[in-house]
Amino acid sequence: MIEGEDVPAGSLPLAARSPGKCIVFGEHAVVHGGPELVVAIDLYVQVGARAAPRPSLNGSTQSAEENPYFQEGLHRLWGTRPPIALTVTSRVPRSAGLGSSAAFCSAIAALLGSATGGLSRAHLAERAFEVERGAQGVGSPGDTSATVAGGYVALNAGAGASLWSVSDGERTWAVRRVSDPGWLWVVAYSGIPRNTAETVRTVSRRLSEPDGPGLLERFRTVALAGIEAIGEERREEVGRLLTENQRLLREVGVSHPRLEALLEAAAPASFGGKLTGAGAGGSIVVLPHPGREVEAVRRIARAGGVPFVVRVARLGAGLVPPATAGAVSGRSLPGDDPDDRAVR
Ligand code: MEV
Repeated sequence: MIEGEDVPAGSLPLAARSPGKCIVFGEHAVVHGGPELVVAIDLYVQVGARAAPRPSLNGSTQSAEENPYFQEGLHRLWGTRPPIALTVTSRVPRSAGLGSSAAFCSAIAALLGSATGGLSRAHLAERAFEVERGAQGVGSPGDTSATVAGGYVALNAGAGASLWSVSDGERTWAVRRVSDPGWLWVVAYSGIPRNTAETVRTVSRRLSEPDGPGLLERFRTVALAGIEAIGEERREEVGRLLTENQRLLREVGVSHPRLEALLEAAAPASFGGKLTGAGAGGSIVVLPHPGREVEAVRRIARAGGVPFVVRVARLGAGLVPPATAGAVSGRSLPGDDPDDRAVR
């Protein structure tokens, strides 16, 4: 495993894997230049690439043609080179706000970057964002930066080491390292798939109303305080700020009764929580009381969520030996979910 370093030149067949992500503070506001804290989590997407007579995704040429991320990756990073077949395995639930598309984009950017001469980690972050943004049409580089960097990263905030800056031509996001407090988090999927681009547009409309700038300022204040509290390892304060951030997300219209029910169920065993990712479905994240993670999981499961205790993935996207392809979970992706285009 050579994650964490630059991606060396290689030749097909190649395999890469990338962690998923969980946004702790600042989703949506980050699209408008606000601060964000994102952590890479130990649920992985693994992608194998080999030369083939025609492009395919998990054995299907139709899936390859219909998958916007694969198409964007080929268009931007592969050009007119000979066709490739991709095989994807994943433990990141799809359309769940936990980074399945960012991880897929980071893994294919690592594969295609390696097969075209290698690239630095900062370039990998840039290219993974280019592919995800090209496919989604909107969004920030928060998700792809976390899946490329591993660990905790802050956008537009923090005093940690500078990792890279990513620009979309109009806006530039500065990405910095945030030290890992070593905590366990509980994330839980509501079972309701969501569409990132749609929710980003909903929130953008809401923020363009007269009270939008004030709302954005409140997002900024909460995220900055949250990033500081994580740095000082103050769990209670982080929990309070998670709940405060959730209030704002509710106010901009991206919560959902199912998410609220899961947060309420987890509350007795946690310091606080919020939706994570685009919202309007997707997942929640809660900070459990140490030693009560299983209780939080039980409570959420009883309320109908699909909980995971997650650890931080210290290393970001990178190449792995092709022989281990498929080893992330043993679960392959049949591409049966029409709402998730990342892994079909
Ligand atoms: C989606 O995971 C996070 C959003 O802030 C969009 C983005 O930053 O690209 C909603």
